[in-house]
Amino acid sequence: MSHHYALAVVVLAFTGGCCMCATDVGEFAPCLQSFYKSWPLKGLAGTPICQRFINQYRFATLYSRPRRSPWFSAYLYSTPGGKRPTSNWKFEPQLAYPGAHGNMIPFPPGPVDQNVVDSQAVELDYINSTYSRGHLNPSLHHKSHEDRSSTFTLTNVVPQEIGSNDGPWEHLEQTVNKTLGAYCLGEAYVVTGIIPYQSDEHWLKNHRVAVPEYMWSAYCCPNYNNSLPEELKDAFPTYAAIGRNDRNSTEEIVPVSETAKKQFRGYDVRQMPLETLEMYLKDRFSTVVSVFYEQCSQSN
Ligand SMILES: *[C@@H]1O[C@H](CO)[C@@H](O)[C@H](O)[C@H]1NC(C)=O
Ligand SMILES: *[C@@H]1O[C@H](CO)[C@@H](O)[C@H](O)[C@H]1NC(C)=O
Ligand SMILES: *[C@@H]1O[C@H](CO)[C@@H](O)[C@H](O)[C@H]1NC(C)=O
Ligand SMILES: *[C@@H]1O[C@H](CO)[C@@H](O)[C@H](O)[C@H]1NC(C)=O
Repeated sequence: MSHHYALAVVVLAFTGGCCMCATDVGEFAPCLQSFYKSWPLKGLAGTPICQRFINQYRFATLYSRPRRSPWFSAYLYSTPGGKRPTSNWKFEPQLAYPGAHGNMIPFPPGPVDQNVVDSQAVELDYINSTYSRGHLNPSLHHKSHEDRSSTFTLTNVVPQEIGSNDGPWEHLEQTVNKTLGAYCLGEAYVVTGIIPYQSDEHWLKNHRVAVPEYMWSAYCCPNYNNSLPEELKDAFPTYAAIGRNDRNSTEEIVPVSETAKKQFRGYDVRQMPLETLEMYLKDRFSTVVSVFYEQCSQSN
């Protein structure tokens, strides 16, 4: 299997050379290692970004230019080390200038180039808005300082309610960290994405960046410790979750717990099997969405 993919990547590098490989826009070929079996999520359309920082590919994002926010980010989990890096926010030059190099760049202290402003979200979109910057790929799920820093790009971020970001969603990220850290024996692939509103799209204050109604996440760890405690029997090889990003959403997908602390009430996260997540994605996107190759089955 992997030989075919390796060959495909090599062939692309030599034949398809030109702009695709130089700019990292248009395909996931340079960062297929972020996906289980080198198989990117199927069913969603957008602009692929191989997220590169200090000349290394770190993870993959499917970006929506019209929404100026991502559909999903995909990455390989590693047990975290050290402290959370200081937030040094970055942008993607290749979205603004075809042919630009693909390394993400920190925002300058002063005014931002108009092509950058037009092509993606910038810090001013989030400053003084009621939404926080919600990482899809969180810095918590990485070991090296560079991998952690690379998650601070606005193309990896959606407008997230603070009650979700500092509450149930953060708790989910920690739970996944603990579960994978304790029982995943090999590689763990994570994909985290968003579900848009059905109709009546919500936007940040100036109508440039779309706000998601829900966030979702799923992991695939094919090689795990079989002696699982009772409460984690369903958690391997794959498991998923959907979190509310709007208190006012109806309760069909994620019910609201009345016992949650007031500031977190209405931002519940519901854990669920991968098939259940894919059912909700199919419903909302009106197309089949496959998150992992053969639903992370363990067969080779
Ligand atoms: C944000 O709001 C504060 C307080 O209202 C104001 O002083 C500041 O200029 C605003 N910043 C931006 C970038 O709009
Ligand atoms: C993440 O997992 C590691 C390894 O299991 C653990 O040491 C660490 O405390 C966890 N961090 C958080 C914030 O849950
Ligand atoms: C699997 O989990 C059991 C129970 O927690 C533990 O005793 C054992 O060392 C683990 N095995 C591996 C290979 O990590
Ligand atoms: C939820 O509903 C309240 C009351 O109608 C409203 O003020 C608030 O803006 C709504 N929140 C969102 C995220 O739409």
